Order: sequence, then structure tokens, then C-alpha cells
Amino acid sequence: MRVVKLGGSLLSHLRTLLPALAGREVLIVPGGGLFADAVRSACKLHEPSSKTAHEMALHAMQQYGLLLSDLSGIPTITSLQDFRGRAVLLPLKIVLSSPLPATWDVGSDTIACYVARLAGLREFIKLTDVEGVMLGDRVVSRVEAGKLLNRNTCLDKSLPFYLQLWKMSCRVVSGKDAEAVRRALDGEDVGTLVIGGR
Ligand SMILES: Nc1ncnc2c1ncn2[C@@H]1O[C@H](COP(=O)(O)OP(=O)(O)O)[C@@H](O)[C@H]1O
Ligand SMILES: [Mg+2]
Repeated sequence: MRVVKLGGSLLSHLRTLLPALAGREVLIVPGGGLFADAVRSACKLHEPSSKTAHEMALHAMQQYGLLLSDLSGIPTITSLQDFRGRAVLLPLKIVLSSPLPATWDVGSDTIACYVARLAGLREFIKLTDVEGVMLGDRVVSRVEAGKLLNRNTCLDKSLPFYLQLWKMSCRVVSGKDAEAVRRALDGEDVGTLVIGGR
């Protein structure tokens, strides 16, 4: 099984992306995308507690998850025990009962990492709208998570920290490139491998 975080940035590329996931043993973790942006806007105006804001953001992931499930025909689950070959995870329940802190830095990339670890994996795939992690002006094929701490990349702010803490890796791949997605699912070396430790 592979855990695949499907970025909100890919909303307009689902027609080409979703077929690349067909027939694969995948657990899809949705991003928040424009649903989370709506939550951010509302929270800027009204500043609810961080607990409420976090829960609202998780509902944004649920919304994207429902859409992904409907378009792909892949069933939703809310608990890993219900995984049968392929699923879209609606993460609210798992995250609320996890020790993850309720901050905007702990976003859907970090949640996907947490879920992959919970599933006993050492790696997960992040599909996003760029080919990989860019350092300087080029996409690097490998980078230590420690090099990305406090650095602005396509990863959640907290992900490099958790990759190190949990000794996990994240393969960053373009979800706009169906062939790259297929290759990543086959375990090939595409995009960027962000390495948290061994
Ligand atoms: N060093 C970097 N390498 C790759 N992408 C970067 C970097 N710095 C910023 N980005 C931006 O991160 C974006 C992807 O992250 P994000 O918008 O959170 O998408 P997603 O919804 O897939 O998580 C890219 O579109 C890119 O513009
Ligand atoms: Mg993101």
C-alpha cells in the first residue's frame, strides 16, 4: 500500500491525474486547497481558537476528500482498519485523536506523513503542482529533511521536522504528469526524495 497525499493545488488536473491512480493499492490523503483557503479567510476576520480553526481546516480536507472519492469511484474511509485495497481517507477522526498540535504549520502534508507512519510505512508520496523540491533554480532528486527546516518550499512548514522525528521520507512528484505519478507508484526515482533519516 502507498500513502499518496493529493494536493489541493491539483484541483484542475484531476481528470488526467485520477486515472493514473486506478488499479493501484493507494490510500489517498486529500489536501485542503481552496477549501482551506476559505477557512483561512474566515479565521483572519474572526480569529477563532486554534482548536476550532484546526478542526475547520480538517473539514476542508474532508470536503476535498469527498470530491476525490466521487470523481474516482474510490471509497472513503475514516479509520485505517477499514482500508480494503484502496481508499480516500477523510482524516478528521484520526487527526483529532492524534497528538498532532492544532496549528496551521501542521497541514495535510504532515497529516499524510502521520498516516503513513500509522500504517507502518517509511515513505509517502506527495503529489503537487511542481516537479519536485526546488533549491536555487533546479529540482533536486534527493535532499535531507534537515536542509529544509525553516525553509520555504512546497512542503508544509512542519513536515521536515516530522520527517526527521519519525525517520520518514517523502517523495514529491508532479500530479500534473500522469507518467511521473505512475512511475512513482512503481517505486521509481522521480521528483524529489526528501529523507528524514534511516
Ligand atoms: N523550493 C520550492 N520547491 C518547490 N515548490 C516551491 C518551493 N517554494 C515554493 N514552492 C511552491 O509550492 C507550491 C506547492 O505547494 P502548495 O501550494 O502547498 O501545494 P499543495 O496543495 O500541492 O500542497 C508550488 O506551486 C510552488 O510554487
Ligand atoms: Mg501545501
